[in-house]
Amino acid sequence: KKKIAVMTSGGDSPGMNAAVRAVVRTGIHYGCDVFAVYEGYEGLLKGGEYLKKMEWEDVRGFLSIGGTLIGTARCLEFRERWGRKQAAANLISEGIDALIVCGGDGSLTGADLFRSEWPSLVEELVKDGKFTTEQVEPFKNLTIVGLVGSIDNDMAGTDSTIGAYSALERICEMVDYIDATAKSHSRAFVVEVMGRHCGWLALMAGIATGADYIFIPERAVPHGQWQEELKEVCQRHRDKGRRNNTVIVAEGALDDKLNPVTANDVKDVLIELGLDTKVTILGHVQRGGTAVAHDRWLATLQGVDSVKAVLEMTPETPSPLIGILENKIIRMPLIESVKLTKSVAAAIESKDFDKAISLRDTEFIE
Ligand code: F6P
Repeated sequence: KKKIAVMTSGGDSPGMNAAVRAVVRTGIHYGCDVFAVYEGYEGLLKGGEYLKKMEWEDVRGFLSIGGTLIGTARCLEFRERWGRKQAAANLISEGIDALIVCGGDGSLTGADLFRSEWPSLVEELVKDGKFTTEQVEPFKNLTIVGLVGSIDNDMAGTDSTIGAYSALERICEMVDYIDATAKSHSRAFVVEVMGRHCGWLALMAGIATGADYIFIPERAVPHGQWQEELKEVCQRHRDKGRRNNTVIVAEGALDDKLNPVTANDVKDVLIELGLDTKVTILGHVQRGGTAVAHDRWLATLQGVDSVKAVLEMTPETPSPLIGILENKIIRMPLIESVKLTKSVAAAIESKDFDKAISLRDTEFIE
């Protein structure tokens, strides 16, 4: 019987539970045993009760709940070879040789490295006397399939990541709340949103709420000049009768000399314009709450496909990452997608903003 483990890793995102539910139930449907790894890679290292065999009803109610019910953790030990060896031993003890990981680029890179090292880790475990050659015989290879859970929508090659639309919805709700009080006092509000290296949340929230101005890392504003432009735009909107101003700043926003542009920098400029200005840093409220419909169906369809991918893969198949392109669930090469995602950050650092955008828009055709 095929034994598959599913885990969530890195920052949580709404829809991760829906992904776990889909993996558990699809696995059971295809006659597999499915285990949930609790607390991310930390649970993989601890083994035992952290690897729990899941039944159909264990994931009841998971579809809509935000965060991750099986937990996540940042695990430094998994970055070390000895940690991965320990994790391999725990998986073999349970008879598991396939792992579906829902997480961001860091977690997925770790998973693929684990897969490439697996044969040598198993060999070492035999040498250490932990298992006999016969015991490890069925566990020659580890299968890894990735699902992207990230509110930032920062993975190259896929249109949306699990959690991004829920976070976007939360931001828009909060900006709507702010608008009511801002208009009452004729105030300007600078709203800082998440998205470490990616301006998707800021850009989409700005469009959806009719913001006056948006700062994102991929379109760095001209150093020393953005201040005047910002003032001019906000004043123009005021002259047209707008009673409030909304400026959305991505937490990773930059100017074209790569200096950070912070919500407070923006506030100072608006104060110079004579506007009564407040800063709201939305923080982790963006990552909380229930999953919106988009994230529920995305995670469900991708979770189903991740199990199918496990069952179809051979030891030669490169680890796939399940994505979505033009409304179709696709499989992309995990390592290439992660590499491209990293090159986006590098392109921004070398001020090649167009390249950054086109890299993230790379399409992988099956
Ligand atoms: O990767 C998602 C994200 O929400 C980023 O936008 C943000 O910078 C980061 O996680 C914060 O994560 P944490 O609070 O877990 O360190």
